[in-house]
Amino acid sequence: MTISTENQTSYLFQGNVTAPGSQVVSGKGIHVDIEKDGVVYENVLDAVTGAAVGALAWGDEDVFEIMDKAARESTYQYPSLISNKSAEELAKFYIDNSEGAFCSALWCCSGSESNENALRIIRQYYLERGLPNKVKLISRESSYHGFTLGAQSLSWNPRIAPFEPYLMDRKNVNIKISCAYTYRYKKKTETEEDYTHRLLQELETKIVENDPDTIAAVTVETLPGSSLGTTPPPKGYLKGIRALCTKYDIIFHLDEVMCGTGRCNPNGRLNCWENYLEPSEAPDIQTVGKTLGSGYVTIAGVLIGPKIRNAYVQGSGAIAGGHTYSCHSFNCAVALGVQKKIKKENLTSNMFKMGNLLAEKLKDVLLAYDNIAGDVRGVGGFQSIEFVKDRNTKEAFDISLNVGPRFKAICFENGLCVMGMPANPDGSCSDRALLAPSFVINERDVDEIVEKTNKSVKELSDILKKEGSW
Ligand SMILES: Cc1ncc(COP(=O)(O)O)c(C=O)c1O
Repeated sequence: MTISTENQTSYLFQGNVTAPGSQVVSGKGIHVDIEKDGVVYENVLDAVTGAAVGALAWGDEDVFEIMDKAARESTYQYPSLISNKSAEELAKFYIDNSEGAFCSALWCCSGSESNENALRIIRQYYLERGLPNKVKLISRESSYHGFTLGAQSLSWNPRIAPFEPYLMDRKNVNIKISCAYTYRYKKKTETEEDYTHRLLQELETKIVENDPDTIAAVTVETLPGSSLGTTPPPKGYLKGIRALCTKYDIIFHLDEVMCGTGRCNPNGRLNCWENYLEPSEAPDIQTVGKTLGSGYVTIAGVLIGPKIRNAYVQGSGAIAGGHTYSCHSFNCAVALGVQKKIKKENLTSNMFKMGNLLAEKLKDVLLAYDNIAGDVRGVGGFQSIEFVKDRNTKEAFDISLNVGPRFKAICFENGLCVMGMPANPDGSCSDRALLAPSFVINERDVDEIVEKTNKSVKELSDILKKEGSW
């Protein structure tokens, strides 16, 4: 079958297939110009940097210089046969800024790809040790680890349900545990420590019931993003998972694709887990992405701890195959330049301070009067607002009301970009707005985000009231 494509309005197979949707025209600093339905919206404050990506904001002249130099000095070769110095230097930089937790890294092109690679690395780790039966993967409900089939198999959320036929064996290979979601699931009668204890007991029971000798890894997002809305782990939770993984000889895998690489670090360094774990309790393997290249290049990575690397060194010492664009010289050189600039200008510390200030100001404003905001939560530069029908019961909005995406649209009309996520169909999580601004924001920017967010919350609350939905 052939057709004329002459009158098509969009030639892209993404989002809405029949319409081009919004298109970014340009960006300077924390503002972007976006064309929507033929109208250019100028100077929209980008409070989510795409999807928690743009650490250095847009149109950074230093990055253009870094890119120019990188383009001139990079030559492509197939990476598993001929490597390059930029990839080595970026690995050394990340390792040097991770408190001795990691000793090796692999660079790839997306967060999904990094989780795919983590799964392959974990599988080979057990083969190197002569433990072929360790295959089961434990991960959490309402989690998101990417869009490729292996990464989706680690994930449990409504978005992946249609693809179940192509996922790993969801009974015998993927094992689901509860999410850690203090706002909604800590019982009123429980302390935070009690809640942690309950979650860890569940994990240990699952490990024992499923035979520890067959369990390969536990994977969790240090601070879940799009799936649950930046729900910080309850006290002692990650430490407890670390201890159980050590006890039962299981790999502890943290997914920091969205929350990591400087977005939420309290010490001016890179990893989000430093909020909760000592370096000696670090994950055995960690996946990262997003802010690594700050949106200027497509880069993500897998960081590998000594336990895993040693097994390879004492075993075959070899990894067969690889992606065409793994450890891409240009991407690695640009990411390294971006990370060095962030470090030199102390921007991780700025993000942590400004992000926490943003959360405090949002709480003060939004929770002070009657509206649909039920909870403001997050860490540093990664914050969320959860919308609820009733603050006391925390009842979720019905998914058909589309509250999260509508909130995003209202914010846009008010000159603010946020991410608006819908509720879960079963009411296990309500609609959320996600904020993940650039690391360069100052207090004036924080105030502008708060003012525009509050205006949008008020407007949507009024609309829902008029409709009789709230
Ligand atoms: C925690 C987490 N892991 C993995 C991914 C997948 O990353 P990508 O979209 O770059 O493939 C995402 C994307 O948002 C994520 O939030």
